[in-house]
Amino acid sequence: MPSRDFLIAPSILSANFAKLGEEVAQVIAAGADWIHFDVMDNHYVPNLTIGPLVCEAIRPCTEAPIDVHLMVKPVDRIIPDFAKAGANIITFHPEASEHVDRSLGLIRDSGCQAGLVFNPATPLHYLDHVMDKLDLVLLMSVNPGFGGQSFIPATLAKLAQARARLDAYERESGRHIRLEVDGGVKVSNIAEIARAGADAFVAGSAVYGAGRDSDPHRYDSVIGALRAELAKV
Ligand code: DX5
Ligand code: ZN
Repeated sequence: MPSRDFLIAPSILSANFAKLGEEVAQVIAAGADWIHFDVMDNHYVPNLTIGPLVCEAIRPCTEAPIDVHLMVKPVDRIIPDFAKAGANIITFHPEASEHVDRSLGLIRDSGCQAGLVFNPATPLHYLDHVMDKLDLVLLMSVNPGFGGQSFIPATLAKLAQARARLDAYERESGRHIRLEVDGGVKVSNIAEIARAGADAFVAGSAVYGAGRDSDPHRYDSVIGALRAELAKV
């Protein structure tokens, strides 16, 4: 797969929230593709972050797609709010919705691309009956709730399984579903993760932690290094 088909999605969870608009614009200027927007509710996951108001606030700061990762339960009530706030992609965890098919339909009816997120211990069988409603599958390579955790190695085998299912679906339907990975992705492991089958990469601490200093181009080198690793795949 050519490296241009790999997407890098910095997670704003590790950004400087006092300068969020600038942080978003700078990672995109440095070559990132999507803004990964982590929504946590202190209920589905033990942490609390940001909601549609913040999505709306950063929307004018970039034309890049905003990839909203909902770690909330329930999910349906908040989906239209994120769509109105300018989200392009909305993903949720199947355990957090009583009616997975309905939630996926709600996201698409709101004009966004839809995806399911799999925790490290969540089986892939949630894919079984909803492939036609998916634009994206997101595999968590850490347990959700916090940035800066270590990549769980068993994710590599799970990525390969998911890749095989998505490739088989693409052969029969002609439709490409992206396979995104989230948690502990770094310059040192991104190539291995890509070889296992991922084609979109969330990186929070690896990108935003790359040097909070006075250098305005501090993100260029880390995103360049991630791309250089992907070019080897
Ligand atoms: C974890 C979040 C991730 C997180 C990734 O619950 O979904 O998006 O910010 O952070 P890193 O890349 O630091 O593991
Ligand atoms: Zn995330």
